[in-house]
Amino acid sequence: MTAKITAPAIRARKGGDKITMITAYDEPTARIADRAGADIILVGDSVANVVLGRTDTLGMTIDEMVHHTAAVTSAEPNALIVGDMPWLSYHTTTEAAVRNAGRFVQEGGAESVKLEGGEKRLDVIRAVLDAEIPVMGHLGLTPQSVQAMGGYHVQGRQAAAAYNLVTEAKMLAEAGVFAIVLEGVPDVVAELVTREVAVPTIGIGAGAACDGQVLVFHDVLGLHKKRTAKFVRQYAQLADVAEAALQEFFADVRSGDFPGEDETYHMPEESAQILEELHEGSADLPGAGLVTDTFLADEAMES
Ligand code: KIV
Repeated sequence: MTAKITAPAIRARKGGDKITMITAYDEPTARIADRAGADIILVGDSVANVVLGRTDTLGMTIDEMVHHTAAVTSAEPNALIVGDMPWLSYHTTTEAAVRNAGRFVQEGGAESVKLEGGEKRLDVIRAVLDAEIPVMGHLGLTPQSVQAMGGYHVQGRQAAAAYNLVTEAKMLAEAGVFAIVLEGVPDVVAELVTREVAVPTIGIGAGAACDGQVLVFHDVLGLHKKRTAKFVRQYAQLADVAEAALQEFFADVRSGDFPGEDETYHMPEESAQILEELHEGSADLPGAGLVTDTFLADEAMES
């Protein structure tokens, strides 16, 4: 069995083998991701878009995120579990941020948390780290800033903005984050950050130079039919596979082909005979008890 992946182990992979990270929001998807060999499973607030049908991530609450994290944790993955702190769960006070990060660990079973932002979030990052919770940073196109950015736009395209981004990445690394997600930034900027900071960078729409890559589970597998971002590569169209399978199931129900003999419980011949007589009123129940659902269900489960 391979050793459980920890935040320090990810930190130590700077410049080494590429790090693989994928989102998951529930137990079955976490199991699939883990069996496939993910290094990190991110319980991302992108659950808002890909599972809950929302248009942005801003409405996610700490309760909802902890709920999804606990589902992922129950898969007991070898991969490191990162809980994504939702908007407003770390923007008020550092005390609130520590408490909310703690909920991911205590109630959700997460082994680390991710939060978006640079210099403005340094105090909070330090406080969460002081509480012994490993933190992953997230810079560039940070979806929780969608209103402030005026939409989902690539960040750091101008030299000054790119320079700020590199500076902020250094600040996060010096504060002690174990890795930094770089989202929606030009490849040269990500390359510079990757060269300049001592912790692994994990890119999403940030080019090939990062120490690792992350994508959203439902995007990679084509579990939806929505338009995806330029940086997504789809490795399957599972929505089509699922649709075809369900069409077959419905056709079998309509034709009477489902359920067949193999999918049906049977009763011993003798019990069926007694049931028939009870129904007709021509026999008494052996033992003179009530005919309960439990009685019938127990008999059914045996055959
Ligand atoms: O919520 C999410 O899925 C993310 C990744 C895209 C990095 O933050």
